[in-house]
Amino acid sequence: MSTAILPQASLLDAHGRVARDLRVSLTDRCNLRCSYCMPAEGLAWLPAPQVLTDAEVIRLITVAVAWLGVRKVRFTGGEPLLRPGLAGIIGAAKVLRTDQGTPPELSLTTNGVGLDRRIDELADAGLDRVNISLDSLDRERYASLARRDRLSDVLRSLAAVEAAGLRPIKVNTVVMRGVNEADVVALAEFCLARGYRLRFIEQMPLGPRHGWDRSRMVPAGEILAMLEARFRLTPAAQRGSAPAQEWLVSAADGHPAGRIGVIASVTAPFCAACDRTRLTADGQVRNCLFSHTETDLRTALRAGALDDDLAELWLGTHRDKAAGHGIGTAGFQQPARTMSSIGG
Ligand code: 5AD
Ligand code: SF4
Repeated sequence: MSTAILPQASLLDAHGRVARDLRVSLTDRCNLRCSYCMPAEGLAWLPAPQVLTDAEVIRLITVAVAWLGVRKVRFTGGEPLLRPGLAGIIGAAKVLRTDQGTPPELSLTTNGVGLDRRIDELADAGLDRVNISLDSLDRERYASLARRDRLSDVLRSLAAVEAAGLRPIKVNTVVMRGVNEADVVALAEFCLARGYRLRFIEQMPLGPRHGWDRSRMVPAGEILAMLEARFRLTPAAQRGSAPAQEWLVSAADGHPAGRIGVIASVTAPFCAACDRTRLTADGQVRNCLFSHTETDLRTALRAGALDDDLAELWLGTHRDKAAGHGIGTAGFQQPARTMSSIGG
């Protein structure tokens, strides 16, 4: 058993990047069926015995924060609100201390369905921020692209998060050609009026097989052109490791000033600044959304591995992190797992 690593090692890769931001998928299941993410019938869900227990999730988050320099933890899914132990996991993560001596920043990426009933409990447990996915403000279009008629649930949740005082509230929109382009300006106006930070996301090849086609993807440039036709935009300061290119929107008739982001994962990849590491609901570490290999921490954990051993495995995964995802290159292949089982 190795005890070679020092406290506060960091997840450094061969390209000089350090991962400080951990994405934890708490379940691969979801109560929506967004067409870019899942087929209508859903997916073959992970068998329950393979899913980490709450105690196992907490143990691995502890390794990441206490030993490996992780400073931010984002809970994702699938839909993380479907995880009954979510508040307990958040509470346990909040008592940890990062290498800077502060509690980790905790956030949640959710579709928002049912969040209005949970937000107070989650905020009390230590949740700092939420990102809510919202692809249309039109009830029928929402219902057709999420395959569930839940727009009003999401809007209620946004209002509840605002009332709970969590800031900033971020809204994620995946733009799909011929589906929700008409929502781009409407969503921007809606979010500006409420002070939400809206980010448009280029669709990535991480959904149902053969469901993605670069020529059909709405590129960031097109999204920006739609926004520029309506708003006065100036580029915000350098984005660092944040994936969104941010634009300051000047106040004008009908809307206040604000900030809008565009996440050009495909046309302007931010891999060179990536500071992410990912843990799947079944206990596999991935160094990239698009990687074809995973490191199995669950088996090690269940075989009685110590923190040192788990940390070594995690460090090893990161040393091999690829320079970039390579979407658009000749050899690119979509990973076997889809977004909902990797964690966004
Ligand atoms: N491409 C881009 N974004 C996606 N999301 C889910 N699947 C995809 C995809 N194929 C988004 C969700 C959510 C976040 C976790 O990622 O809409 O906002
Ligand atoms: Fe569920 Fe998110 Fe996938 Fe939509 S994108 S089906 S909300 S996991």
